[in-house]
Amino acid sequence: MKPDTKLITLGRPRPERESTINHPVHRASTIVSPDVDSYIHRNQGGRRQDRVSYGASGTRNSRELGHAIADLEGGAGAVVTGTGLSAVTMAIAAFVAAGDHVLVTDSVYGPTRRFCSEVLGRYGVETTYYDPAIGAGIEALMRDNTRMVFLEAPGSLTFEMQDVPAIAAVARARGAIVAMDNTWATPLFFRPLDHGVDISIQAGTKYIAGHSDLVIGLITCATDEQFQRVADTANAYGDVASPDDCWLALRGLRTMGVRLRRQQATALEVTRWLASRPEVHRVLYPALESDPGHALWKRDFGGASSLFGLALATTDEAAVARMVDGLELFRIGSSWGGYECLIAFNHMPVPRDVVPWTEKPFMLRLHLGLEDPEDIIADLAAGLGRLAG
Ligand SMILES: Cc1ncc(COP(=O)(O)O)c(C=O)c1O
Repeated sequence: MKPDTKLITLGRPRPERESTINHPVHRASTIVSPDVDSYIHRNQGGRRQDRVSYGASGTRNSRELGHAIADLEGGAGAVVTGTGLSAVTMAIAAFVAAGDHVLVTDSVYGPTRRFCSEVLGRYGVETTYYDPAIGAGIEALMRDNTRMVFLEAPGSLTFEMQDVPAIAAVARARGAIVAMDNTWATPLFFRPLDHGVDISIQAGTKYIAGHSDLVIGLITCATDEQFQRVADTANAYGDVASPDDCWLALRGLRTMGVRLRRQQATALEVTRWLASRPEVHRVLYPALESDPGHALWKRDFGGASSLFGLALATTDEAAVARMVDGLELFRIGSSWGGYECLIAFNHMPVPRDVVPWTEKPFMLRLHLGLEDPEDIIADLAAGLGRLAG
């Protein structure tokens, strides 16, 4: 079945005598058993991905969403978590122990970095950040105790691509688990597990939910054993997503294909236009031919979402504030993946150990929604006009 058809059919009720198109929301703390014997054995038998026994370890709604994402990512199972960040932290916590070492891309999402440096550090797990462009050169950083290699492509804020198959091949040969934050591409545009990755992470908050009204995370595992381990860890930490948010995320999935393709077309048009403007220093977007990560993106990815970096020529912060504050279609905010345009202002460099981005003192991050690209360009053109004062 093609991915677009899967988006429509996965996680839906089987037709019965009377049934609805969508599952209802199963709000639950308690899930009761019909008798003592089934209560005693409620956590045994059948697939873990299907069982429900208590609201804090998932409901029918999280199971349906998990099945759908696992199928789209090509994995054995997917654990649903409360936020995208907790999907990252649970995926890491599931596999590391005191004395272990993890390798994390220097371009990783900031809060992932904070978790590795601060929390893992306190628990006796050491993190080394590596150049996202390292490729097979990661071999030189692998230690006997390297338990996990963590990737994110393109990188947060700076949009560096990574040679996923090359890094994954080295890591796996050395017995490390390979995990990747795949939020930017979604499983529609990149399937990490097909490229040697063990664990693919989605902040479902972004394109999956698609409407900027919930937070949720997903961890897809290549094997059943890994799934059990991640599910046990999330359960031990008490990390769960509400049935309502699972239901909304599954609803978002139905339209993700059309949204993403429209947003991709808009992003290509708008980024090409921006790159041609004299006020622009650089557009950071791997789908652009001029981007340093373009060859890798073209080789491995099936498409591009609509989040990119914009470095302006000017270093005048007040002028950029004038530009951004006057935009009509862009709200100022830090998430992305919804149906609407968003813009964020970031002082640079953000914390990096290996490759700090120092070309300009600040950078804009734009997310393009489903508005007409002509209107978006007109809004941005007026904004660039305000830079001159
Ligand atoms: C790449 C990436 N991963 C993970 C997350 C975390 O998602 P959430 O906000 O749902 O915790 C974000 C949020 O911005 C993100 O950009």
